[in-house]
Formats: sequence, structure tokens, C-alpha cells
Amino acid sequence: MNALHDHLCRYDAGAWREAIDTLSAEIHPIDLNATRIWFAFFPLDLQMALAEASDPQETERKLGLMGRWRLADQIDESHRFLFAHRYWPQVKSAVGKDGIPLVNLAPLISAVAETAARTARVDREFLLGMSAVALMTLRQVGPAAFAAAPGSIAISDRARAMSPHQVLRRRARDDGQGLFGFLRGLKKQWTVTFDENDPQAHFTVIEGQEIASGAQSDQRDYRSRDERCIPGEGPIPVECRAASCGTCWVGILGGAEKLSPVVDRDERRRMKVFGYIDSSEERPLIRLACQARAHGGVSLVIPPWNGLIASCVRSPSESAAPDRSDRGSPVSRSQSAPR
Ligand code: FES
Repeated sequence: MNALHDHLCRYDAGAWREAIDTLSAEIHPIDLNATRIWFAFFPLDLQMALAEASDPQETERKLGLMGRWRLADQIDESHRFLFAHRYWPQVKSAVGKDGIPLVNLAPLISAVAETAARTARVDREFLLGMSAVALMTLRQVGPAAFAAAPGSIAISDRARAMSPHQVLRRRARDDGQGLFGFLRGLKKQWTVTFDENDPQAHFTVIEGQEIASGAQSDQRDYRSRDERCIPGEGPIPVECRAASCGTCWVGILGGAEKLSPVVDRDERRRMKVFGYIDSSEERPLIRLACQARAHGGVSLVIPPWNGLIASCVRSPSESAAPDRSDRGSPVSRSQSAPR
């Protein structure tokens, strides 16, 4: 695995992004958004900035990191929102197998998915996103930590029993508004799911309400599972509610088109300032829950950390290598991941 890790260290964040873009037409729709969200939640540039820092604690303080940002502490769980998480043992084992070809990223991800698919007895398209996640995890945490992780599954048997079709259908579903729903107008209510693996993990928002405001209707205790959560504020960590702190960022697994566009207010500009995403999309997969307003049912995932990381995360335009002709090919950059 050391040779594979050394090989992966030759690719920067832009090359990984290009590899995912190259494979996006082949990744099964059940995990396409989830894969992109995972890569936004665990940016390589952040890991490298911390690994290269002379005083990592001071860098963490300067970046205002809160929560669980270290991928090494969550090797088996960070990707539990991917449908293919249920095949994590097979994918992890495929990464550790001899004979994985040290080729460019896209074909390398493909080769791992192919190997895992034979063991898991599912189509390769289901495992492409998970294979990319597994290789990036190895890249960030190093061979020793990767090998030491048990490779366990972090979802219930009931969640595992869901088929891709069932999950996709649930994501697409909007709440019925009853027999006289058309009379409810602005009083329509929508369900926001924040963990597809937990049947209790949902709250209700009123038509046009910001997601974080709707989350306040959920008065259950979330602080015991995420210390950033404020009692009485629901499952999404919040501080300012004004697009100023970056605490409330979320990934949108399904229903992005049912949210208000980011051109509203200054959500797009602020997310770029935070360093979470630099996208020109009207409804990107990463949103600020205190700004995005719901006009339908949504499935989202809450990242385990937040911070102001723009100073260490390069945008797609900054990381594009003009002299590269082969997508997903290596670029020279310092190699500093742990062993
Ligand atoms: S709560 Fe501060 S940006 Fe949303």
C-alpha cells in the first residue's frame, strides 16, 4: 500500500476534481452528489495545510476549525452518507490488494471499483464514488492508519436493506399537503431529512423558510453527538444565522432544485470566503442552511466540522494546470501525507 500511497501523493486537489468529473457519467446517480459532497467535506488542501504547518494547533486556531475535521479519526464513518458505504469492507480491501495498477486517477479509481464489485457482487457503477473516497482517504491518512481501521459499516441493518431505487424515490418525494393542500399556499410544509440512514432524522420547514430556522422545530438533544450543536437550535450547528460564521454549511443529497438560488442575498460570496465551495451553479450541492430557503422536501447531510479555510483551499480556477493535457494526471507538489 506504500507504493499506492506514494503514487496518490503525486496528484493535487485539482487532479482529483478532474478525475471525479471524468467519471461522473459512470458513477451511479445514487452516489454522484454524495461523492462530490464528501470531497467538499474533506478537502485535500486542508489536510495538506495542516500536515505542512510548523505549528498545526496554531493553524487550526487561525482557520477557526471546530468539530471533527480530521479524516484519520473517522476513516470508517466519514462516508456513511454514501449509499455504497454498505460495501466499504469490500472497497477498503480492494484498495489494499496487490496488483492495483498505478495509473492515472480516473482509471485507478475504476480499477479499485472493478475489483471491489467482483467481491461485493454488485455493478461497478455503484462503487466508483466509494472507491474514489477510499483512495482519497488513503491519500490523506496514510497507509498505516488506513490499514489499521477495522473497515466496519456504520449504518443499521434496516438502512442497509434499502435498495437504491427506494432511496432515490424517497429523495424525489415531496410531502403531500392533504386534500385541500392547494389552499394552504404559503403554509405548505416540507420534510427535511438530515440522515438517510436514520428514520427519525428529519424535521419540518414551512414553505420558503430557511432550513436552519426549520431545524429549530426539532427540540431533541443533538449536543451529545455534535458538540457544536446548541440546545434548542436543532441538529444543524448555527451561530450567526446571517451568513457570517460558516457554521451551518450542509451538503444537499437530494432536492437541491427545491431550494432558493444562491443569487439570493450574498450566500455565494460568503461560501467562497469560507472556502467551502467556489461554484457558479445557481443551486450548488453545498449550501448555508441559514440562507437556503426550502420550496420542497430536501435530503441533506451535515458535515462534522466547520472553519474558515479559504486561505488554504485553492479554487478550481487556481488549481487548473494549463500545461496538463491528460485529465487526472499527476502534478508536482510537495508530498507530505503521513505514513
Ligand atoms: S449560522 Fe452563521 S453562516 Fe449560517
